[in-house]
Amino acid sequence: MVNTEKFIKEAIHRIQEESNGEKVVIALSGGVDSSVCAELASRAIGERLIPIYVDTGLMRKGETKRISEIFGHLGLKVVNAADEFLDALEGESDPEKKRKIVGERFIRVFEREATATGAQYLLQGTIYPDCIESEGGIKSHHNVGGLPLTMQFQGVIEPLRDLYKDEVREVAEALGLPREIAHRMPFPGPGLSVRVVGKVTREAIDVVREANAIIEEVLVEKYRPWQCLGALVGLGTGVKGDNRLHGWIVAVRAVNSRDGMTADPIEISFQDLQEIESRITSSIPSVARVVYDVTPKPPATIEYE
Ligand code: XMP
Repeated sequence: MVNTEKFIKEAIHRIQEESNGEKVVIALSGGVDSSVCAELASRAIGERLIPIYVDTGLMRKGETKRISEIFGHLGLKVVNAADEFLDALEGESDPEKKRKIVGERFIRVFEREATATGAQYLLQGTIYPDCIESEGGIKSHHNVGGLPLTMQFQGVIEPLRDLYKDEVREVAEALGLPREIAHRMPFPGPGLSVRVVGKVTREAIDVVREANAIIEEVLVEKYRPWQCLGALVGLGTGVKGDNRLHGWIVAVRAVNSRDGMTADPIEISFQDLQEIESRITSSIPSVARVVYDVTPKPPATIEYE
């Protein structure tokens, strides 16, 4: 447990000191860590904070609009780079290459925008478990000590370095951030590209985005899962109207977990599963089947790629 009022006061003071009167940029994704950082920094240095949100085209449905609304008061700069990301990913099926493409593009776009602002400091939402996992070499996708940028900053400011995730959520609540941010489910950096098993296409991304929106609508409030998602796991035969169709198979996943390292499937009522199935198959013509995944982690991972 963290004394949130004391933490907020000290973090604001540290950001003021460490930023040396200069401009500070942050890649604000809308995840709880970067959101808390941005809110703290805004209180600390006001307009010297430049939060940049990159729309990769791989975000959840309505995400960009919602983040723009929530963080409008911070002067959020929204960069629409969807075409850049989707063009680069088109036809790619290797999961690691997808991660690499998205990661590299992200850095390129962010650097371009950050350089234009003249900011001298980078603000990052690194939290304590990121540091430990990175030191232990467990996960490679966390960015400790700064994004691997080529541009030079005078320094990196990491106000959340000593906090665990649940403590960050407490601070988010104390800062008055909405519940949807404070209790936001994790979302992978490569976004929906890793929820399309195999080849990425614009059509597949649109389908999986719609399916994820329905799954979240049915499950989030009722089950408060640690994470829930849908993935396109292949094609299968179905029949719609009088026609046989070779349509997408959507796998639904809902898990509870402490830290993402292990996870257990959630027991969803059959009625709720049927609601997900009927809403997905009726509103997305190219989906032929919906299945529910009951595999824990291990042996499965949470995402499909
Ligand atoms: P897995 O699928 O490995 O995922 O069980 C564990 C947690 O990490 C998220 N995840 C990622 N997050 N970049 C990220 O920032 C990634 O490349 C990535 N891959 C998986 C996943 O959503 C889950 O919460």
